[in-house]
Amino acid sequence: MNDADGPLFEEELATLARISDRAAEAICCKKEVVVASHVDADGLTSAGIISAALDRADVDRRTLFFRQLDLPALETIADLGPDLVIFTDLGSGMQSEILEMGLSAVVADHHRPQGSGVELHINPHLVGLDGAIHLSGSGSTFLLARALAKAEGRPGEDDDLAGLAIVGAVGDLQDMALGRLIGLNRWILEVGVGAKVLSFGRDLKLFGKQTRPVFKMLEFSSDPYIPGLSGDEDACIFFLKEQGIRLKGERWRRWIDMNSGEKGKIASALVRRGLRAGLSNPQLERLVGEVYTLLLEREGTELRDASEYSTLLNATARYGHSDVGLAVCLGDRGAALEEARLLLNSHRQNLVSGLKLVKEEGIVPLAHLQYFDAGDRILETIVGIVAGMSFQTADRRKPILAFARSDDGRLKVSARGTQDLVRSGLNLADAISKAAEKVGGVGGGHNVAAGATIPPEAKEEFLELMDALVGQQFQG
Ligand code: C5P
Ligand code: ZN
Repeated sequence: MNDADGPLFEEELATLARISDRAAEAICCKKEVVVASHVDADGLTSAGIISAALDRADVDRRTLFFRQLDLPALETIADLGPDLVIFTDLGSGMQSEILEMGLSAVVADHHRPQGSGVELHINPHLVGLDGAIHLSGSGSTFLLARALAKAEGRPGEDDDLAGLAIVGAVGDLQDMALGRLIGLNRWILEVGVGAKVLSFGRDLKLFGKQTRPVFKMLEFSSDPYIPGLSGDEDACIFFLKEQGIRLKGERWRRWIDMNSGEKGKIASALVRRGLRAGLSNPQLERLVGEVYTLLLEREGTELRDASEYSTLLNATARYGHSDVGLAVCLGDRGAALEEARLLLNSHRQNLVSGLKLVKEEGIVPLAHLQYFDAGDRILETIVGIVAGMSFQTADRRKPILAFARSDDGRLKVSARGTQDLVRSGLNLADAISKAAEKVGGVGGGHNVAAGATIPPEAKEEFLELMDALVGQQFQG
């Protein structure tokens, strides 16, 4: 690593590794454990990492996925009467409840801790790092997996799981703040490079480099939104022809089919186009940045690119098919991958119709935030993703809140900000957990992305509270 990669956080890493070693000792002697994880790409890769590590250590496991860790979820877990529960990508916000339930627990998470009490707790916040950008849930779980291999006298044997940890970090958008992964994620990257499972380099950050024809990749670019190209197929084709790019070989040519000269030409033309259209520097930085390649996956598949892999996993988890995503993480390249691809197709369609709905119905501005209410027209499990993508057209000076009706009749809230807003003081996890608690709901998450579930009749009061709390954060 060189200086440009920033501090190495060696002390922080050593502290988390020590906690991981103790947690590994507690796991090693068990015959069977329960793994409880979160239903998103980071949660699935976390479950994949710990499952692989447990399999290698000959510890049997049962894996359960939860949208959020609330009391009913903890009761479901307790009913299994487990010797030990490993919570991954969740748990830090429910420490006293975990202990009150009498569960013996290891927590590998990166959400902002609430309360305390769980001793075997691996979380970047505990060593002063930011869980939104320095380490993901799958990163914390990777530390645990490594410790497990070490405790078993097989040091380094779980290093190949670094690939999944990077997919989880990218799934939680941890590379977006600075255009590349930093903090302990950087260390995981180096471990993965050493294990020959990962490579990284500067490239276009648009989605679909592995799988889409280039003109489609440009047409569907949403972050950043490229004025004049995004959403306009003809304009994208014309733009590429203008650069002298051949669109078709034996098949439509994808980004990975272009030679380096062609890639350079397209990238500079895109930057010029972005500058002309008034894209800000942070937006341009999101266009070209660092990308992460999984070297053991076949070229031209979603799994080769960390960003596409994470979207594929989201497409399984958020529709109640976490088992499919987990099977893909554990290496199934047959039936599970096939099913995941079908789910990915409908996920993409759902995101497109969600965005269309937001565009048609508009976003309501308040003093310090903006919001839309999707009712039952956007699934509560993807309304947060749609909210984040809405920044491509919405006012970037205010965070977005999105409401959707939950299956159980409660109201799901997803909140998304930008890194610029976080730098101005925004902390959505803090605001949303306070506001939700006041109205009889529960919430949490990260400074830049958070969520809650509240009683539907409390919506107006909740909005007022959030608006005031966010306003105070900006005043510092
Ligand atoms: O559900 P959504 O994608 O909006 O969640 C954003 C973040 O907030 C996630 O990291 C999620 O774990 C967290 N969250 C939470 N408590 C909730 C809902 C979401 O901590 N009740
Ligand atoms: Zn996470």
